[in-house]
Amino acid sequence: MIRMDAFIINGGRQLRGRVRINGSKNATLPEMAAALLTDEPVILHDVPDLADIRNMARVLTPLGCSATRDTDASPKTYNLHTTDTSNSLAHYDIVRTMRASICTLGPMLARRGYAKVSMPGGCNIGDRPVDLHLRGLRALGAEIHLDGGYIIAESPGTGPHEKRRLRGSRIFLGGPYGSTVLGTDNVMCAAALADGVTVIESAACEPEVEDLAKLLNTMGAKITGAGSPRIIVEGVEKLHGTGPDGHTVMADRIEAGTYIMASAITNGDVVLENCPVDALLAVMDRLREVGVWLEPVDPPETPCNHNDPLRQTVRVVSNRRLEPTIVVTQPHPGFPTDLQAQMMALLSLADGNSIITEKIFPDRFLHVAEMLRMGASLIRSGNSALVSGTRELIGAPVMASDLRASAGLVLAGLAARGQTVINRVYHLDRGYERMELTLQQLGADIQRVDHPAV
Ligand code: EPU
Repeated sequence: MIRMDAFIINGGRQLRGRVRINGSKNATLPEMAAALLTDEPVILHDVPDLADIRNMARVLTPLGCSATRDTDASPKTYNLHTTDTSNSLAHYDIVRTMRASICTLGPMLARRGYAKVSMPGGCNIGDRPVDLHLRGLRALGAEIHLDGGYIIAESPGTGPHEKRRLRGSRIFLGGPYGSTVLGTDNVMCAAALADGVTVIESAACEPEVEDLAKLLNTMGAKITGAGSPRIIVEGVEKLHGTGPDGHTVMADRIEAGTYIMASAITNGDVVLENCPVDALLAVMDRLREVGVWLEPVDPPETPCNHNDPLRQTVRVVSNRRLEPTIVVTQPHPGFPTDLQAQMMALLSLADGNSIITEKIFPDRFLHVAEMLRMGASLIRSGNSALVSGTRELIGAPVMASDLRASAGLVLAGLAARGQTVINRVYHLDRGYERMELTLQQLGADIQRVDHPAV
């Protein structure tokens, strides 16, 4: 019999206490791949201990880049070092387990003049094409074709002894759903080593893109405008490592948003440290609108944090039934798609009708059917869902389908009457570091158990 970890949650406990937000998964993944751009060591601090991070290390190792945790200094520090550039093939077997492997494409192409990366397939949240990544790299002069499910990208005029270099260009990266986060990362990495200036128009403005640009600049790149829709990259011939000080990964805005909503859904009182408030403005706006009290507080023991809008201490209090609202997911600085399922759980207990519209991944609604099993009143129509608030959710066995949908189910389980069993929590382990321990520390009744696979 196949067994998998499950969570058993006995709902109804108010969350109370303090939690420190970890480094961002989605910032770390492309930053690890950026180590392919240099032959010097790249040191990343505050790397969360997650399945996706371990998978990215597995992607990088065969590509000649060692990626190891620094067990001597801090286990949150990763040392990356590319010493062998002879293999530039990222195999299907590994790419299909983690789409972010596509981040190796731009760096390998830029530094080696050649990359062969498996085309990632769709996943539970939608088709997820990579056409914009390829459009951007082609605009830099790369020749790209598909063969046997692989993307094969080469620098112009490559030959064994020819100098292989991409050339700067003006690139429009917008698509039908707005900008692309990892596509912007890929093009920015490739342009960093290109000959001349690249202007990326309609670039993704996500803070993780800005954090990657910060790392690349530490490595000698010349990038301005990251975090805005126009990024300017002045290509340089060579990038170096981070030096011994390394780069500290930004705090995870989605983890922070998830714990803020976990506090709110249980009528709790939680203080979050290392909270990237500046990256959560749309989320805070919606939460204040529905009646959650959410304010930065003075952390007496670390007063300097108060000045860094990406590392603040924030208190979340919710002590009444919340109001309904309208939520539309959008590219940053709009409301993030990665918090849509969690917000749905919260609004399913609000006092009235809410509407959630998903504008990034129109099919990202697998959690709806599971929340219905817990007594939520939800009607999905196209890329919107009508959420009619009910007085209570009722515990039930449910199945996690993707990372954020699972987080939404955990939140529903924390607030539900009775017991919720969440199967397939390996999805959660991809993006939340031992979520059950964090929630236990805040007073939740949640256990990880080894369960027959469902
Ligand atoms: N798109 C295209 N063509 C492309 C690329 C994207 O049409 O070539 C479309 C997508 O189908 C989607 C929209 O553009 O409709 C945005 O996709 P994007 O490329 O920005 O997504 P991503 O870069 O593949 C990252 C995060 C996701 C997050 C999205 C949106 C990482 C590793 N992943 O994915 O995070 O949902 O941005 O913010 O950074 C998660 O953490 O659970 C997660 C799925």
